Amino acid sequence: MTDTPNQLQNLGQQAIKALDGIATLTELEAWRITYIGRKGSITLALKQIKELPEEERRAAGKIGNEIRQAVMQAFAAKEASLGGKTVGGEVSDLPAGPGHLHPLTLTMRRIQDIFSAMGFTYVEGPEVEEQKFNFDLLNIPPQHPARAETDTFYVAGLKGSDSLPLVLRTHVSNMQNRGPVEYKLTPPFKIFYQGRTFRSEKADATHGSVFHQLEFMIVNKTASMADLKKVIQTFYSTFFQKPVDVRLRPSYFPFVEPGVEVDMSCVFCGGSGCSVCKHTGWIEMAGAGAVHPQVLKNINVDPDRYQGLALGGGVDRLAMLYYGVNDIRLFWSDDIRFLRQFS
Ligand code: DAH
Repeated sequence: MTDTPNQLQNLGQQAIKALDGIATLTELEAWRITYIGRKGSITLALKQIKELPEEERRAAGKIGNEIRQAVMQAFAAKEASLGGKTVGGEVSDLPAGPGHLHPLTLTMRRIQDIFSAMGFTYVEGPEVEEQKFNFDLLNIPPQHPARAETDTFYVAGLKGSDSLPLVLRTHVSNMQNRGPVEYKLTPPFKIFYQGRTFRSEKADATHGSVFHQLEFMIVNKTASMADLKKVIQTFYSTFFQKPVDVRLRPSYFPFVEPGVEVDMSCVFCGGSGCSVCKHTGWIEMAGAGAVHPQVLKNINVDPDRYQGLALGGGVDRLAMLYYGVNDIRLFWSDDIRFLRQFS
């Protein structure tokens, strides 16, 4: 009878006790190497279990597992209490520390909190969408270039109530119709929605074929472009936790009239010009405008009595600017060293 289980038990107790005296991440890293690193005493003792005779291996394995779990839990708790990560925490083949949310999830939760605080109702819709909602009800006619196969992912073999193939939504504006109708809203209302969107584009540092958009829509009797600017400015200033300027430039989108392109003063240089804003002082953030009368009619709102405002923009861009990430592809990375920086 070998004493591997005994030895493991002693080692485990010793390791957990040693954690008590640790006050810095550097000390914790030294502890990690001593006990659970690749050549750590617990790691080596656990490996010995494989060498045990058949009849002892099973019981020893069970004890080994329990000890391994207890030690890893104590280690993770210590790491969390020190508010950081040890350098080589992921080098070990033992279970990793506690999980946390992805930076894009954190960003979307913050965005949602801000819009809720501004009195918007959150509504949700499908990612696989009928062409009717993604295009037609938004004044995007059948021949419009945005419907071409080069931009839109069509779902083979599945058709919508309009008898046309379903699409992966190319923007979250599908909710301009679905939102008020499905949630049975009558004016005045303010809604907000966000989520994944899809376009068949080649991925580069700032674009991917899967990205995220946020959008809001306001319908009431007095909505003006001045209100639109105010809401946008409040949102971006709250999001970036500092006052920003907003500039609206005339633009065209079929579902708004007038339509505008929304620029925000550069959050890095404050508008004086830097590499992030390409020395213009401004960053392009979103499209917006006054909801087109036909789009209001489509949701049974009388455009002679009510006005609408809407904005749609990128979430990934906001997250990149907020966290100082310069390549959108990093958000799809499974590199734990990148992901662990956000919590
Ligand atoms: N849906 C547009 C896009 O993805 C963005 C957009 C423009 C949304 C103007 C809006 C708007 O709500 O008013 O490019």
